[in-house]
Amino acid sequence: MAIRKVRLIPDDILRKKSRIVEVVDGKIQDLVEDMLEGMYKADGIGMAAVQVGVLRRVIVMDVSEERNQPIVFINPEITHSEGKQVHREACLSIPDLSGTVERPAIVVVKGLDRNGEPQEMRCDGDLAVVMCHEIDHLDGILYTDIATEFFGPDED
Ligand code: NI
Repeated sequence: MAIRKVRLIPDDILRKKSRIVEVVDGKIQDLVEDMLEGMYKADGIGMAAVQVGVLRRVIVMDVSEERNQPIVFINPEITHSEGKQVHREACLSIPDLSGTVERPAIVVVKGLDRNGEPQEMRCDGDLAVVMCHEIDHLDGILYTDIATEFFGPDED
């Protein structure tokens, strides 16, 4: 396994649309492992494949305190959303910035797990926020596109 370099703004790749994964093969599974390793190392709570330069619809996240509950979604799709919540978001590709974003309170996401098996998950709280943030990455959307207020590294 290897740590892959995280792409930072204004890298154009972050604005590109990621392609569907047709087959969950060893190459995709290696990508998933590398993304999880990189996410934990960077102390992030989510990562999309485009952030390590791979335009495939793969996202990983972990919102647990213990950092031991990785979630992997391949070809994720939001099939239902409801309510709203406002959160402060940040992104590994956008250093030293955070911003206030409104997201759904609840989303239902379907897709494949890291073994290529179908999975569906109902997400609320932080997990719903991260899920929406990472799925946006797959369409070239950054949280800064929809944030209403920004904060620098030294601001609360
Ligand atoms: Ni991000």
